Amino acid sequence: MSPKHFLNYEGLSKEFIISIIDRGLELKSLDQLPKSLENKSLGLIFEKPSTRTRVSFEIGIQKLGGNSIFLSSSDLQMSRGEPISDTAKVLSSMLDAVVIRTTNHELLEIFSKNSSIPVINGLSDLYHPCQILADLMTFKEFQGNLDISKVAWIGDSNNVCNSYIEAAKLLDFNLNIYCPKGYEPNSVVMKSQKNNVVLTENKENALKEAKIVTTDVWTSMHSENQTQEKSKNFDGYSVDPNCMELAHEEAIFLHCLPAHRGEEVSIDMLEHSSSRVWSQAENRLHVQQALLERLLLD
Ligand code: CP
Ligand code: NVA
Repeated sequence: MSPKHFLNYEGLSKEFIISIIDRGLELKSLDQLPKSLENKSLGLIFEKPSTRTRVSFEIGIQKLGGNSIFLSSSDLQMSRGEPISDTAKVLSSMLDAVVIRTTNHELLEIFSKNSSIPVINGLSDLYHPCQILADLMTFKEFQGNLDISKVAWIGDSNNVCNSYIEAAKLLDFNLNIYCPKGYEPNSVVMKSQKNNVVLTENKENALKEAKIVTTDVWTSMHSENQTQEKSKNFDGYSVDPNCMELAHEEAIFLHCLPAHRGEEVSIDMLEHSSSRVWSQAENRLHVQQALLERLLLD
């Protein structure tokens, strides 16, 4: 049984996530894709810019026989005050699913409560669950299993980090977060987690035996006013080839992208032999096709 919406990992089963990853890998291996989502319509409501999320969802559903419509939030009546609940009811009568990228996670919650069609979080201020699906798929693609055992998160405890925190609970891997004081993860997200998430002030300890080393920009979208302060406080909270020497010998480096070379990653890191960032980005397409199939067809 699939959940109705995909807003974060809370309440999902491990089996659900694994089945999506495996279907993503299967779809990636096929020469000819099935028309499994024929005539299904996907709406994308975006309040923030996007390259990977938008293109992977739009092209992903088209390749499975469906269609998509991109709805910049500023073009919708929502931007003129139409209630989110009314928008959700109307779009539910015209579309089969909707992806929302928002500055405020609450919008996703209100929308989904009023929606009779599946709602997918395409990134909010709190979570980025689709990204972690692609990260997990990429790990399995290269390591042949999901025995992650330990992830090292280096840098800002942001929306992507929060989704790692939730995934650690669901998939039972340890997550070590190395972030500056004052930039710890959201306390609400942390409270509901198990003790396999550890905050550390020691970079070497964070990296030791990690099978995934990952990071993200120091300043997320719509927080650009923090850029100056963060560039001082985050000095050293970055990933470079030396970090990979400290991690597990088979560790892979992941980054959700876009990256700021010279900040959270060294200039050479994305092209390092351990880096799987380009496959990770491509896997957004395959794994979200699998997600759409599960939410729309089950
Ligand atoms: N990683 C990610 O979500 O990228 P976009 O912002 O380009 O969608
Ligand atoms: N943390 C980043 C992720 C971008 C994909 C942001 O929210 O801007």
